[in-house]
Amino acid sequence: MSSFFGHCLVIERDIFFLENLLKEVDSTDETFLVTKTLADAFNILKRPQSRIKAIYVSLSFGGPDVTQFIIKAQEMGDIPVCVLVHQERLRLSEGELQRLGAKDQVVCPEGRDALLAQLKKLFPERHNWAKISVSPEEKGTSLDLLDQDFMPIGTDAFLLTDKCFFNVFLRIGENRFLKILNAGDPFDSDFAEKYTAKKVSNLWVKKNEHHQYMHLTEKNAASGLARLAPDAGKRIAHLGDNVAKALGRVGLGEDNLLYADRFLGHTVSYLRQIRTKDGGAQKLFEDLARAEHPAAVSVIAGLLAQELGFESTKAIKIIGLAALLHDVAIYQKRAKFPLELVEDLTGEDLELFHTHAADGVKILTDMGIFEEAVIQAVAQHHQKHSIQAGRATTLISEIVAASDLFCHFVLNSPEPRLEFFLNRKLADYRPQIGDAFEAILKRKSRSAS
Ligand SMILES: [Fe+2]
Ligand SMILES: [Fe+2]
Repeated sequence: MSSFFGHCLVIERDIFFLENLLKEVDSTDETFLVTKTLADAFNILKRPQSRIKAIYVSLSFGGPDVTQFIIKAQEMGDIPVCVLVHQERLRLSEGELQRLGAKDQVVCPEGRDALLAQLKKLFPERHNWAKISVSPEEKGTSLDLLDQDFMPIGTDAFLLTDKCFFNVFLRIGENRFLKILNAGDPFDSDFAEKYTAKKVSNLWVKKNEHHQYMHLTEKNAASGLARLAPDAGKRIAHLGDNVAKALGRVGLGEDNLLYADRFLGHTVSYLRQIRTKDGGAQKLFEDLARAEHPAAVSVIAGLLAQELGFESTKAIKIIGLAALLHDVAIYQKRAKFPLELVEDLTGEDLELFHTHAADGVKILTDMGIFEEAVIQAVAQHHQKHSIQAGRATTLISEIVAASDLFCHFVLNSPEPRLEFFLNRKLADYRPQIGDAFEAILKRKSRSAS
């Protein structure tokens, strides 16, 4: 579960509850960070990369200390605090909670589930697509609207439901759109084919409705995974595609990072489902062929990390996030960028290529919420083939860089150059990266033969 992008800090010293909780929460827990002292809690709160979005503090520290703690914590940021109460007779009244500055209390929790239930109350699902209503524009007339207010959605991936939950437009020229569907309109069965036949590859929704679309694709990916649906990989690729578009066109806001986090979580689950399946990687490559570049690199990096022995969800998600953001500086400036093979670039494109790694580092560092490994990978993802080629690179950076190259030379290339990629490009990287790609690809060819 992760209904928000960040962590919940639990400060507890009641030995019985602590024992129960620590059985369920370990250092790889995605949601909860547990500390035993208020001093440790402050140290965690001081680091912005801890991304603490909620706090549970135990009343076992005593009323005065808890009050002091909440006051200081509130000074550090507007983070909701709940109190953990371990005896029914100590349950606080509304007035007492208010005086403490606490948002709520959890009385006699037994373990992680009780904390999770409270978190769901604090952070309900923010997006509900049912809320979208018909927008004022009239259907069927050409309208002057701004390109910058719209997001593209692949036409062939469009039909997720019987009814359209969005106001859908056709882009007929620069800043000109034609509204073709109102929110609530039913889809004709041949809706997508009709537009695909006319070579319309994208339909457009307004940016302020797009996060609802992501919500829908996220639910769709989650349900596909849970049911082990044959098209689960496609659903995840589609979610990744939308996440990458949103990160590039709208930015690294909290909502988009939340969806990125969910995409990465689904990717890890899916990679585990297919890891022993012959042909699993091959199918994944097909699903990713049309996804946005950052999404494809992210999934490939996860696949490679898994093959290299990274086991924890947290570690694979960090690698996937680094891959998702590796070209962030490019996509914030340009919605479309030519495949970045440096020998093909000229003029402004070449200039942007030369600065994008350093600019990406600046964007991410300024936000102050990303792990060092993510920032290093962005910094180093072209290093092997730059004037800094002699300097050491981290394993994570090499995973991201090699996955990037795989997408450019093999996965998304009109003329895949697999041998060139394996023998020439990967020669600069740690040998185990080449071995891991060989193992992944062999599994593919064995099933194909
Ligand atoms: Fe790049
Ligand atoms: Fe790239």
